[in-house]
Amino acid sequence: MDQQILKQKVAEAAFARVTAYHSDHLLLGIGTGTTAECFIRLLPDLKSRVEATVASSDRSAALLVELGLPVVDLNAVGPLDVYIDGADEANSRLHLIKGGGAALTREKIVAAASREFICIADVSKRVATLGAFPLPVEVIPMARSHVARELFQIGGQPVWREGVTTDNGNLILDVHGLEIEDPLSMESRINQMTGVVCNGLFAARPADVLLLGAPSGVEEVLAPAP
Ligand code: A5P
Repeated sequence: MDQQILKQKVAEAAFARVTAYHSDHLLLGIGTGTTAECFIRLLPDLKSRVEATVASSDRSAALLVELGLPVVDLNAVGPLDVYIDGADEANSRLHLIKGGGAALTREKIVAAASREFICIADVSKRVATLGAFPLPVEVIPMARSHVARELFQIGGQPVWREGVTTDNGNLILDVHGLEIEDPLSMESRINQMTGVVCNGLFAARPADVLLLGAPSGVEEVLAPAP
């Protein structure tokens, strides 16, 4: 089945979950990417119950505004009810690799500020071990070469995503060749490198619910008990 159809199906499943929330003043965190965009395009039907949205990228914010949804700065609101976003890879513990669209830092902030994180993806994103998808790392521009050498020291092959500047004015290194057996410690280790703003591992704050679109339907995976 066409990947786009699977993305649409998981977006609809997430929309149904959010619609079932008992609130007429919903505060929604909104992600970035093609799957998140399918979700955004459903939101006009929920407009009367949405108090505000916080977007993880300028491009998602622009689409929300175009569709007539209220977009606010994260600092203007308290904790968000729910964050909905896609992923580049997901394991069975709902640890993720994100940042294929370069929005990882804002995605991590909005996820951290949300009570629930619903991850939506087509089934091709499910993996046993994270790392086949190159791990995005956002770096301060002057630290690019230094951080690249540090990433090499831990067994990765960093590649500068040339021509890309993040919404925060920084650069992206995509780290190839990592087999990430322990996502939690890898996330923390890379974050400790001086010059790193954030990396695309979502293990300290994994998803709470993973909706996976497959030709047979949408599978719901819940995070295992800690
Ligand atoms: C954006 O920076 C990413 O984290 C996306 O959520 C991720 O790349 C998934 O994108 P798609 O939904 O386009 O596959």
